[in-house]
Amino acid sequence: MEQTVYLNGDYLPLSEAKVSVLDRGFLFGDGVYEVIPAYQGRLFRMAQHIERLNNSLGNIRLQLEYSLQQWEDILQPLLDSSKDQYFYMQVTRGVAPKRDHAFPVEAVPTVFVMGSDLHHFAARNEGVKALTMDDSRWEMCHVKATTLLANILLRQQAVEQGCAEAILIKNGKVTEGAASNLFAVVDGVLVTPVKNEEILPGITREVIMELAAANQMPYAERDMALSELQAASEIWVTSSTREIVPVVTLDDQPVGEGKPGPMFQKMNTLFQQCKRAGE
Ligand code: PDD
Repeated sequence: MEQTVYLNGDYLPLSEAKVSVLDRGFLFGDGVYEVIPAYQGRLFRMAQHIERLNNSLGNIRLQLEYSLQQWEDILQPLLDSSKDQYFYMQVTRGVAPKRDHAFPVEAVPTVFVMGSDLHHFAARNEGVKALTMDDSRWEMCHVKATTLLANILLRQQAVEQGCAEAILIKNGKVTEGAASNLFAVVDGVLVTPVKNEEILPGITREVIMELAAANQMPYAERDMALSELQAASEIWVTSSTREIVPVVTLDDQPVGEGKPGPMFQKMNTLFQQCKRAGE
């Protein structure tokens, strides 16, 4: 049976969900998005995702006054309690009468939501390879914009070299992955770069820091030099779709002992419990 998606107030079969070629999302990538996991029909950290979506909308000056409840109502018919899913939600500045960089005077935002099955990220148990690359993105990486060309090109370069992620370096400091946040274990402390306009404030990142605090695992939010990353005993990349993924090879060099480390094993167990409990 064909999948049902939500588009501008309607629930439609995917093949019938159509958007005008004049939509500014299509012409300019003028929009923002969210990716929200749901475990067995329960949305995980929904309020934080919607708060981040509202921040993204505000940052690109796109007005859409949907409450948390309204978003929950939109997602409800797409939730399936028999499996794990993730929801892709996109809001664009809508269809303008002609192509013009400046905002249209009157445009109704286009709102699209699609659910997909969320499968266990197969390589989590053995870990993945990653490459470091120059962070070629723009100055508003805290906005979850659909304009993702730099991220796409970076990830593709990594994939073509047998890697699962590109780890981005800006002015000698680590920022994040092409589609993930980054953690490293440095001298026994779990370190993640500070939250600023150079990274996306990841929800998975937030959960990990809460779990570290609640379980007496030493952690710090601070700048991290590339040289520190290279000397780290563990590196993880984190996101809503892949959860916590240990990086065991960085630029062809083993990370620590070249296998998922003890901090990962502990945090991954805590994370799995937390997501199943829906906390
Ligand atoms: N991306 N940083 C970037 C650049 C990302 O694209 C993502 C997630 C994250 C992690 O954020 P969170 O933990 O809230 O998922 C960090 C999603 C999954 C995507 O683009 O598909």
